[in-house]
Amino acid sequence: MTILKDISLKTYNTFGLDCIAKHFISIHDIKTLKTAIQEQKNNYMLIGGGSNMLLTQDIEELVIHLNLKGISIISENDDHVFIKVQAGENWHDFVLWTLKHNYGGLENLSLIPGNVGTAPIQNIGAYGVELKDVMDSCEALNTESLELETFMNSECQFEYRNSIFKKQKGKYVVCNVTFKLTKHNHVLHTSYGAITEQLDKMQVDNPSIQDVSKAVTAIRQSKLPDPKDIGNSGSFFKNPVISKSDFKKLQSNFPNIPGYIVSDKEIKVPAGWLIEKAGFKGKRFGEYGVHKKQALVLVNYGNAKGKDILKLAQLIQSTVNRIFGITIEAEVNII
Ligand code: EPU
Repeated sequence: MTILKDISLKTYNTFGLDCIAKHFISIHDIKTLKTAIQEQKNNYMLIGGGSNMLLTQDIEELVIHLNLKGISIISENDDHVFIKVQAGENWHDFVLWTLKHNYGGLENLSLIPGNVGTAPIQNIGAYGVELKDVMDSCEALNTESLELETFMNSECQFEYRNSIFKKQKGKYVVCNVTFKLTKHNHVLHTSYGAITEQLDKMQVDNPSIQDVSKAVTAIRQSKLPDPKDIGNSGSFFKNPVISKSDFKKLQSNFPNIPGYIVSDKEIKVPAGWLIEKAGFKGKRFGEYGVHKKQALVLVNYGNAKGKDILKLAQLIQSTVNRIFGITIEAEVNII
């Protein structure tokens, strides 16, 4: 096991924050992962694609970079293919791989930053599709027993941006994910408003999965900053879910407030709208700020400190709470 010292994590987190890992190891196999976890007891931090974290300080404990690689077809039938993908594969590169082979299911999830291993933890989702719709199962290392456990989709307790792996934080390390994708008769999800519009713009009448991916990519590129150009972590906050009665009360003061029905009693409100109405959209504070095209995204223009971004996040939370009486929670992990 080679443990490196004083490694900058700038290129390991999509916010591009320059925090130092005092001790760092890149893991390529499960055996080494087990050894590292066993030796460090609870004194380690895992990092995958670094797309869902805000680093606010240097890291004293061992940073374990999960770099497991590999994509393999494990079985197939007339209609479906089952593909096992190791946690350290880049998410979008894998989506492109499936599209090249004409396997359907992941096209709406194009261009999401991060690695495959993080996808089930967050139950990543975009444009009407969530990971739970395409995952067959996954394998995760139980950090207490050091056994590899298989979780079928139904065992993962998937919810909006949540799963058993997030609820029982620290207990499991997702090591690989098996996807169940279509080989033909692909089911397209184009009802999400902007996709249909984008396909019209592209003059596509009878879209393929590749066309849907291109449409999603174009929409994302038009609204969301590419972490290669501007550091960010995608949506910084989750969209809050409030009761229908609270929503009705808000509507009397804010008639244009958007909301999506999630159940008989609950409405999901876009946090981006709340933050924009609170006056933060496009606001820049030196090296950091709120993205000008999507208020849900906080950005690092180059040399921001995680602590400053955290302060901004807290200011946004308290202002939104003061104006609307709604609590918005961070989607990213604050470290
Ligand atoms: N809106 C505003 N101002 C803004 C941003 C959004 O008013 O600055 C309002 C608009 O009413 C818009 C609505 O919010 O119609 C929804 O916006 P959008 O379609 O961009 O989606 P979102 O709710 O802001 C969610 C996910 C994104 C995902 C998109 C598309 C969460 C926290 N975010 O954003 O996921 O790409 O839907 O499906 O659920 C991510 O998690 O990192 C992420 C980017």
